[in-house]
Amino acid sequence: MEVISNDTPQGKLIKQIKMAKPSSCSSLYSLFIICSFLLASQFLAYEAKPPVENGLSYSFYSQTCPKLETTVRNHLRKVFTKTNWQAPALLVIFFHDCFVQGCDGSLLLDGNPGERDSPLNRGIAHRALQTIDDIREAVHSECGRVVSCADITVLAARDAVFLSGGPDFAVPLGRRDSLNFSMEEANNLPLPYNITNVTLKTFASKNLDVTDVVALLGAHTIGRAHCHTFYNRLSLLDPNMDKTLAKILNSTCPTTYSRNTFHLDIRTPKVFDNKYYVNLMNHQGLFTCDQDLFIDKRTKGLVEAFALNQTLFFNKFVDGFIRMSQLDVLTGNQGEVRAKCNLINNKKSILTPIVDRIIQLPY
Ligand code: HEM
Ligand SMILES: *[C@@H]1O[C@H](CO)[C@@H](O)[C@H](O)[C@H]1NC(C)=O
Ligand SMILES: *[C@@H]1O[C@H](CO)[C@@H](O)[C@H](O)[C@H]1NC(C)=O
Ligand SMILES: *[C@@H]1O[C@H](CO)[C@@H](O)[C@H](O)[C@H]1NC(C)=O
Ligand SMILES: *[C@@H]1O[C@H](CO)[C@@H](O)[C@H](O)[C@H]1NC(C)=O
Ligand SMILES: *[C@@H]1O[C@H](CO)[C@@H](O)[C@H](O)[C@H]1NC(C)=O
Repeated sequence: MEVISNDTPQGKLIKQIKMAKPSSCSSLYSLFIICSFLLASQFLAYEAKPPVENGLSYSFYSQTCPKLETTVRNHLRKVFTKTNWQAPALLVIFFHDCFVQGCDGSLLLDGNPGERDSPLNRGIAHRALQTIDDIREAVHSECGRVVSCADITVLAARDAVFLSGGPDFAVPLGRRDSLNFSMEEANNLPLPYNITNVTLKTFASKNLDVTDVVALLGAHTIGRAHCHTFYNRLSLLDPNMDKTLAKILNSTCPTTYSRNTFHLDIRTPKVFDNKYYVNLMNHQGLFTCDQDLFIDKRTKGLVEAFALNQTLFFNKFVDGFIRMSQLDVLTGNQGEVRAKCNLINNKKSILTPIVDRIIQLPY
């Protein structure tokens, strides 16, 4: 049962990583693998394409801003040749915007404090938010103030996936920008320390199913994480973490408070591919929420299926992305189209969070 390829452009360090063997190649174990893989493919085969929410459409701007998608992609091509960390940042902005009060650009708003000041959003890169507004500026100077910041956020994430080596796909458009944001909901973002049981419940509350969860977490095939987000796995000497990886992480993170970061995907950290799932099968997932996908019976078969078949992963990721991109959207006359992504148009109204409870991260 060897699904591991040898392309590890990470140099010496990563070459030391031992490919942990599944407990044995006993026929019982193989049978289990084959069964769960077949069950997963059966289940996947009958899943319908995500429906398009009322008010959104694949051709929303075809009359009002026909060059929109070309403009976004060309802008990002230029940005990504200069820096390679903005692609993961744009993908995370998409996730955190959509998961909190819907895909409404609320994460982009300045506030005192704002949604961005939630501890779970503190890794959000200011420069990547600026990139979204730079695109907005280019688009608005071409078409006028017709395209929302919420749509630009989704398009930027979609292009970040494609320009990093992932699938190319169309997304429904027509979202409107919010007039407010929610600190309270931002504190309900999923935590890296939680097991699959908890993750599945969190995503189920947004009508995202097991396949969506396993596929969307595949976004952790690009980008980096700060020490405090995975320190829980080191202090416990997690038996589900490959020993060599544990050593590398231990030296990367001398303390919880270390500001260092490590790759989410140890094999191909900058490429959007299915190596994330290969990592999990080798106990080289970074977070508890990652590695536990290969322990929980409901998700293990999907991890294996995606590790074996990148096309399958890409198809399911696209479905999950499109579902997530339509969470609680504002459409029609709701909200507005912002003239600047970090500000609502009527600057006189004062933005204050409904609740300013700040939760402490558990470390
Ligand atoms: C259970 C669900 C999830 C949890 C608990 C989680 C947690 C995290 C954490 C803690 C980080 C590191 C942040 C930092 O240290 O700055 C991270 C990074 C990242 N996450 Fe997730 N995440 C989840 C799902 C997702 C989803 C659904 C996506 C996108 C579709 C996503 C995309 C990313 C990306 C691309 C990065 C790298 C960011 C960068 O390098 O700037 N994550 N995630
Ligand atoms: C934000 O505004 C919407 C209406 O557009 C409202 O339903 C929602 O409760 C508001 N949220 C907060 C946190 O104020
Ligand atoms: C999620 O993880 C945190 C931190 O370890 C923990 O405090 C919390 O109880 C977990 N949530 C659930 C629902 O188990
Ligand atoms: C997972 O959740 C189910 C119900 O949703 C519960 O019966 C089960 O005990 C939980 N398992 C763990 C390990 O928490
Ligand atoms: C981590 O590093 C510390 C010293 O910095 C050492 O005492 C500890 O044993 C190491 N743990 C592992 C798992 O390597
Ligand atoms: C991989 O998945 C795709 C999409 O579901 C499917 O068409 C293809 O037959 C699969 N390939 C293999 C080798 O199973």
